[in-house]
Amino acid sequence: DPYHSEITLRVNGTPRTLTVDHRATLLDVLREGLDLTGAKKGCDHGQCGSCTVLLDGRRANACLLLAVAQDGCDVTTVEGLADADGTLHPLQRAFLDRDAFQCGYCTPGQLCSAVGMLAEAAAGHPSAVTPDGAPPAPGAAALDREEIRERLSGNLCRCGAYPHIVQAVEDVSR
Ligand code: FES
Ligand code: FES
Repeated sequence: DPYHSEITLRVNGTPRTLTVDHRATLLDVLREGLDLTGAKKGCDHGQCGSCTVLLDGRRANACLLLAVAQDGCDVTTVEGLADADGTLHPLQRAFLDRDAFQCGYCTPGQLCSAVGMLAEAAAGHPSAVTPDGAPPAPGAAALDREEIRERLSGNLCRCGAYPHIVQAVEDVSR
């Protein structure tokens, strides 16, 4: 069969081997092949961020990636953010505490994107808002709201829950 290949992904810490259609996106394989329906299909065109997952620790739009090209990669979805004993990730806790969602459709993507974004900031990824893009010192001061908004601007929320989302991320950034 020239149209299918076997790949192995490490998904939320567990190796998963499966046969994928070469045309299938990572998003469809996660949702339909592995029954991980946390990552959502909003636009399917890389414009809304609701499908955001962590790919080898970096945030990525799963709807834009062919699954077959991710063979050997490490994927974390929203289902993998909490500890094995069910303890929520600090960002999940903060989203609950700050009531940072309404319908919740964008939330898995917002969470994965925020996890990746905070790691980028801690690694000294240049500022998204200062004119010269000066990097924050690695591991230094909390991000301000404007910086958080800009760095999460690829994740849309149709409900307009942005103020609470930014507040939750700011809590964890501190
Ligand atoms: Fe992937 Fe919208 S579904 S960016
Ligand atoms: Fe509804 Fe964000 S909470 S789309």
